[in-house]
Amino acid sequence: MNAIVHRQYGAPEDPEVLAFETIERPVPGDDEVLVRVHAAGASVGDHHVVTGKPYLIRLSPFGGLPRPRNRVPGAAMAGRVEAVGAKVTALRVGDEVFGQAMSGAFAEYLVMPAKLLAPKPSNLSFEEAAAVPWAATALQGLRDAGGLKAGQKVLINGASGGVGTWAVQIAKALGAEVTAVCSSRNVERVRALGADDVIDYTAQDFVAGGSRFDVMLDLVGNRSLADCRSVLTPRGVYVPCSGGGGDWIGPFVRIVGGLLSSLFTSRRFKTFIMTPNRNDLLSLKELVEAGKARPVIERRYALREVGEALRHVGEGRAQGQTVIRIVGEPGAPTP
Ligand SMILES: NC(=O)c1ccc[n+]([C@@H]2O[C@H](COP(=O)([O-])OP(=O)(O)OC[C@H]3O[C@@H](n4cnc5c(N)ncnc54)[C@H](OP(=O)(O)O)[C@@H]3O)[C@@H](O)[C@H]2O)c1
Repeated sequence: MNAIVHRQYGAPEDPEVLAFETIERPVPGDDEVLVRVHAAGASVGDHHVVTGKPYLIRLSPFGGLPRPRNRVPGAAMAGRVEAVGAKVTALRVGDEVFGQAMSGAFAEYLVMPAKLLAPKPSNLSFEEAAAVPWAATALQGLRDAGGLKAGQKVLINGASGGVGTWAVQIAKALGAEVTAVCSSRNVERVRALGADDVIDYTAQDFVAGGSRFDVMLDLVGNRSLADCRSVLTPRGVYVPCSGGGGDWIGPFVRIVGGLLSSLFTSRRFKTFIMTPNRNDLLSLKELVEAGKARPVIERRYALREVGEALRHVGEGRAQGQTVIRIVGEPGAPTP
């Protein structure tokens, strides 16, 4: 099968880092499924894995030392079940599925645990469905970490990117009043997703505005903890999802600082790391099928262009999600 092989850490567009190769097709274990990947998502997380930065990622299951442990990168994907392991009962050959794997999605075939897959939303194409697993970050950040309830006010900093465009729609679906922060070029796009109020950060400072929020989901991490705390109601929750710390420890500076500061104030600090799971995929499928949220696909690339796609998402200026089209690209085998 054709696949993108992660040879070493570095710039994704460097052919010594990511190479388009023909490798053997993986074989599913008893609890696993072989999926013919039709489309994959290319996210900021994949960029971290490929560059190996922040360096701490190299110590995690996504990394490896001195070289990447996982041969094929890529996590979010949608496709069709090609074979199932002996103990898999929930899925059958031919089922259309989507989900988020640990690695391996930038390839024509992928093996992953059956429990991390859900049926593809019936109203989405495979390309669109490959952009849905991002939404789990927004869902877990708002609903679980933030405890966002209907009628509450939420501030979403970084509302125009891969996670932010989902966050605006999910917060509205949860019944919240949404204030979104983005740049001028994204104001109309974010408003169209349902934001009640949009702050253009090039013209207005969300800290100086005087509004108070029950939850702040921070997808940028460009403001001090004191600034973020100051926009919260007395029992408000700050949910950082990103931020600062440079190449060594990345967002951990903010996490430790926030945990310490929450010892001295009633405002809460709730950090989280998105954990892929089937229940959330089913909730997102329901939301999408009910017409309450949709992916916002900014760019599409071919499998051999994964390096270029990751270079784009690594710039941090995305206007939605980026997907890799695998079935249907020139030279791909017929599914
Ligand atoms: N905790 C977790 O488990 C988890 C999971 C997934 C992602 N993340 C993190 O979440 C963050 C967001 O991910 P993403 O995929 O949405 O990123 P993304 O697709 O790169 O989007 C970033 C967005 O932020 C906007 N932006 C840049 N500077 C801004 C500013 N000062 N104020 C407001 N918006 C600004 C950018 O547009 P403009 O440049 O036009 O403003 C862009 O649309 C990343 O740091 C990622 O690592 C965490």
